[in-house]
Parts: sequence; C-alpha cells; structure tokens
Amino acid sequence: MSDIETTTSKRLLLVSGRANEPLAEAVALELGTKLASLTAYDFANGEIFVRFNESVRGTDAFVLQSHSDPINKWIMEQMLIIDALRRASARRITVVVPYYGYARQDKKHRGREPISARLVSDLMRTAGADRLMAVDLHTSQIQGFFDGPVDHLFALNLLAEHVRKNIDVSKITVVSPDAGRVRVAERWTDVLGSPLAIIHKRRDPDIPNEVRVLEVVGDVKDRICLLVDDIVDTGGTIIKAAETLFDYGASAVIVAASHAVLSDNAAERLQQSRITEVIVTDTLPVTQAQSFEKLTVLSIAPLLATAINEVFNEGSVTQLFDDGRLQA
Ligand code: R5P
Repeated sequence: MSDIETTTSKRLLLVSGRANEPLAEAVALELGTKLASLTAYDFANGEIFVRFNESVRGTDAFVLQSHSDPINKWIMEQMLIIDALRRASARRITVVVPYYGYARQDKKHRGREPISARLVSDLMRTAGADRLMAVDLHTSQIQGFFDGPVDHLFALNLLAEHVRKNIDVSKITVVSPDAGRVRVAERWTDVLGSPLAIIHKRRDPDIPNEVRVLEVVGDVKDRICLLVDDIVDTGGTIIKAAETLFDYGASAVIVAASHAVLSDNAAERLQQSRITEVIVTDTLPVTQAQSFEKLTVLSIAPLLATAINEVFNEGSVTQLFDDGRLQA
C-alpha cells in the first residue's frame, strides 16, 4: 500500500483536522504517506482559521476528522477545510468521519425538532464534499442523508478478533442492549457462532440519556454475555444492561462498542461496574481522563487506510468486506 504515487498519476492528499491527529497519523503511516501541511488555529473570538501550506490542486483529498468533544468546533473546522480544498481546486473531496456526530438525532421524535444528522450531511455537501466515509453509522439510513457516494465501514471484525483471541466463544451469548441494535447483534452471532439475547428497554423521552431496563429475552444464565453497541456515551445503557444480565444469572459481562464517546464520569462508572472489559476503537480520541483499567482501545487506522486506498484506486470497499480482506 506504500507506493501509491507509482501505481497511478493521481495524488492522494490525506488531511487531518485537529480532533484526532494521532488516528490521522496512524492512517498516514499505514498508507505510507504524510499528512498534508495545514495551518489551523483559533482566533480570540473562537472563529477557526485554516490554510493549506502546499498546493492541493487536482488532488484526491481525504479529510479525516472525528466529531469528538468539542463537537461543534470540530465539525465547523472540517467544513472550513473542505471549503478551502474546493476553492483551491482539489479534484475530489472525501470526508472521512470515523465517528459521525449528531447521528443519534436522525429523526423527529416529536414535532418542532430538527433532523440534525441530515443537517450534518447537508453541511458537508454544501461545503464541497463529494463522498463520505464513516464507521458504524448509528443507523444505516444516514447513508441516504448524504447526497453522494457513501462508504460505510464496520469495526465488527476488528472487535470480534479481539474477543475470539481472549474469550472462549463457546461460552458467549451476544446481547443486544435494545431492540434497535438487534440487526448488529445478529451480525455478531454470525461471526462468533454464538446465541443471541435481547434486552428490552424503555427510554423516557423527557429525560435524555435516562434508560430503564426492563427484561432479558433469551437465555443468559451462566453465560459470558457480550454486550454489543455502537456508542458508549455516559455508559448508562450498558451499565444498566449489565446489571440486568447479572440479575438474570450471567457469569460475566464484556462490552464491545465502536465509538468511545465516554462523556461525564463514564470512565469512573464503568471501572466501578461489574463489567469485566470494555472493548472500543479509536474512532474518537480517548483522553487520559477517559481511560480506565478495564478499557481496551483497538486501532481503526488499518481499516480506514485500506478503505481510503481502495477508494483512491477506484476499487471496491464492499468487496473488501465480502472477500474477507477487512477481517482483522
Ligand atoms: C442508543 O441508541 C445507542 O446505540 C447507545 O446505546 C447510546 O447512545 C449509549 O449512550 P449512553 O452510554 O449514554 O447510555
């Protein structure tokens, strides 16, 4: 993958915003390239300034930015980078969002609400993005929000490989923390060959982040329960799910999730919980304050690099998953 410039006359330009530079550096290393030279800083009033220190004319540009905290700032920075690329004649601009912000606001739950996930796509498109690459979108329909090609990548194989290496899969029951995650949990059961259980929960619409766990559907007694979710934010969902699983006789609970939002005191609460291990990826930067002993962070960089390389060389990202080249 290192000789990109010799296999084609096109030029790949990998650009990083300031949100997750270590991940962008790791992707650059995998691709055998360097990050584009970009100056980015804040003015005193909070406005962001960006400027490329090299020509970007005619490039196939990939703009990597995780929508991490402070999310609104990093989304805006990404828009400014895209705008700068477009005005400086980049040939094609792909937005790479390992974690797509506002994805959980993908519909109007009640009247007079925005569809924020759609707006994020519209902003990218308006700024000048031609394509979107994202990892484990909260819901698949977000692909339809972006008016252009979308490469939807999955961290499942990466996470599953870690599970396979460390746990006896014959003892595992895959658990979906709610009805919305059942399809994803089913993919896990296919990969691990394990049975499935589902937690039936109800959320109070007036209290954001507040979750009420009701019951477990499926057999979890004396099983190692592998709770699979896309996002761990406050940790509320999985901590309550884990407590319920122990109430139903689970012998242990492991968590696998793609995106470690880890807001509030999630790290402390997860460390103190009865959960044995929380396995995540680095789609979002994990700060020291967010780290805890039970947390395992796997790098998504090889997956992103492989997909970027495939897009650059006009290959097939779907085929990468289909023929197992993206198995970790
Ligand atoms: C919900 O639909 C998501 O898939 C996650 O379960 C949720 O966003 C996690 O949030 P928290 O960790 O705050 O419960």
